[in-house]
Amino acid sequence: MAQLLQINSSLFGEHGQSTQLSQKFVERFLTVNPDTQLKVRDLANQPVPHLDAEIVMGFGATEDQKNSRQAEMTALSDQLIEEVKSADILVIGLPMYNFSLPSTLKSWFDFIARAGVTFKYTEQGPIGLLEGKKAYTNRIF
Ligand SMILES: Cc1cc2nc3c(=O)[nH]c(=O)nc-3n(C[C@H](O)[C@H](O)[C@H](O)COP(=O)(O)O)c2cc1C
Repeated sequence: MAQLLQINSSLFGEHGQSTQLSQKFVERFLTVNPDTQLKVRDLANQPVPHLDAEIVMGFGATEDQKNSRQAEMTALSDQLIEEVKSADILVIGLPMYNFSLPSTLKSWFDFIARAGVTFKYTEQGPIGLLEGKKAYTNRIF
């Protein structure tokens, strides 16, 4: 069974125009592909914290080196990464706020972009480690 991860990033949650647009897309997708399991992550209702030095140092620390906040934040990062790894299809509801992406979505990206886990550095530059996924969004910057 295919897994679809719907990520909504409107400040207005389910009332956001971008959310409603991606909702329509997902409903149609599920009608055409009924053998699909849906997981929704709404970044307005479940905000991901802003990345800071303590959190990012925690990502690279061993279990016994992490303080309790670093352990909690790394566990959240692991959970968000697991959701992306499990997904075959990603649908991102993406409004433009002040000429850029919502800061909630940037925080989500900051929590899923981890060297050695979702990408790695090579002599040719960074390369992604998650393959075979299809992503849809309503806006391209
Ligand atoms: C705080 C805020 C900032 C916005 N900044 C821009 C912008 O820079 N450029 C733009 O075209 N639209 C901007 N918009 C309009 C949104 O992109 C527009 O409402 C969009 O349809 C979807 O937003 P929503 O999904 O949160 O409803 C802004 C809206 C808000 C609430």
